[in-house]
Amino acid sequence: MNIQTKLKLTVAAFALSVGAAQANDDQVEVLHWWTSGGEAAALNVLKEDLESQGIGWQDMPVAGGGGTEAMTVLRARVTSGTAPTAVQMLGFDIIDWANQGSLANLNDIAADQGWDEVVPEALQRFAKVDGQWVSAPVNVHSVNWVWANKAIFDENGIEIPTTWDELVAAMETLKAAGVTPLAQGGQPWQEATMFDSIVMATGGPEFYKAAFIDLDEEALGSDTMKEAFDRLGVMRENVDPNFSGREWNLATSMVINGDAAFQVMGDWAKGEFVNAGKVPGEDFLCFRFPGTTEQVMFNADQFAMFDQGGEVSPQQAALATAILSPNFQSAFNVVKGSVPARTDVSDEAFDACGKQGMADLAAAAGSGNLFGSMAQGHGAPAAVKNAYYDVVTAFFNGEYDSETAVVELVDAVSIAQ
Ligand code: BGC
Repeated sequence: MNIQTKLKLTVAAFALSVGAAQANDDQVEVLHWWTSGGEAAALNVLKEDLESQGIGWQDMPVAGGGGTEAMTVLRARVTSGTAPTAVQMLGFDIIDWANQGSLANLNDIAADQGWDEVVPEALQRFAKVDGQWVSAPVNVHSVNWVWANKAIFDENGIEIPTTWDELVAAMETLKAAGVTPLAQGGQPWQEATMFDSIVMATGGPEFYKAAFIDLDEEALGSDTMKEAFDRLGVMRENVDPNFSGREWNLATSMVINGDAAFQVMGDWAKGEFVNAGKVPGEDFLCFRFPGTTEQVMFNADQFAMFDQGGEVSPQQAALATAILSPNFQSAFNVVKGSVPARTDVSDEAFDACGKQGMADLAAAAGSGNLFGSMAQGHGAPAAVKNAYYDVVTAFFNGEYDSETAVVELVDAVSIAQ
């Protein structure tokens, strides 16, 4: 039995045992994967908001960015007839569950709060299915960020790299100085999340769209994709020997503690810096992956409400309403590292990285440079995303060379559709 299968069986058994304890009437049971220090701090903002309204919180955490493990647990819960009240979900997973008729209709709440007017089009595409709101958007994250230890950059005379060649030169300087350049977590979703940025930087926006949104075979099997794998191979040479299996937040800690120079990761990494009391521009730097300054590859966390057999429950309504309130959108996202899922929230409370994130998102949306992240469930449905993970991780772990990886990618994506 391979590790993936074992993991799936373990989480499924866990899900069934937890499922036996159903949420009380005055509680919400929330399935999510926010388990790191920064994530837990952000989640507390939501818990406290609900508790102030007399609504209890039954926590159901299942770690794993991209939500693959959480979705395995969810399927087990739904199969056993004990769907949680609310579930953190990304992109195409929301559409899948809505198409299966499992999600409650949030249209009345959406109309009361005017969601149609304030939630960006790119998010509505995943939150509204057949004209029906089925989930409450919490935030917008983006994956094409680099998080760097400022002291290490300064000590080694490194400027923020703006091109691939500058990034490679910076990594060479760091290595020569005995510093691990790249803090990398060794899990398929993390390698794939970094690869999203490399593909965008290598091929540009039209190529990214052709490969990861349109799933065009020619793009997936092209020399440009091969070059992107070559570049991923270069990144692999800049990782420490103990990366295998490492959680993303432990990789972030390496940057925070000065054990590595930088991490390529979505802006949930900022939540870890903030939680450790670190300040952008003083302790750490945030910048777009070189070659992707105009693009934003996004993912949006949403809470889908599972139909509990009838109308939306008062607790579900309170949760959805709390999530979309402008105050919550600011307070939560300041801590989480993401930016608001409403276009009308002020950036005043946000730090420099958050302000940049908000400005970048608006600019990218306006210039046709906003794309769903493939690794984070906003490029293609889960089967394709998981096929992508498999190929990228096999390459990263030395099973394929670039030429083979490209052939395998075309095959895996075609089989998964
Ligand atoms: C989610 C983030 C989360 C990250 C790591 C991503 O899939 O969108 O909210 O912080 O995974 O757990």
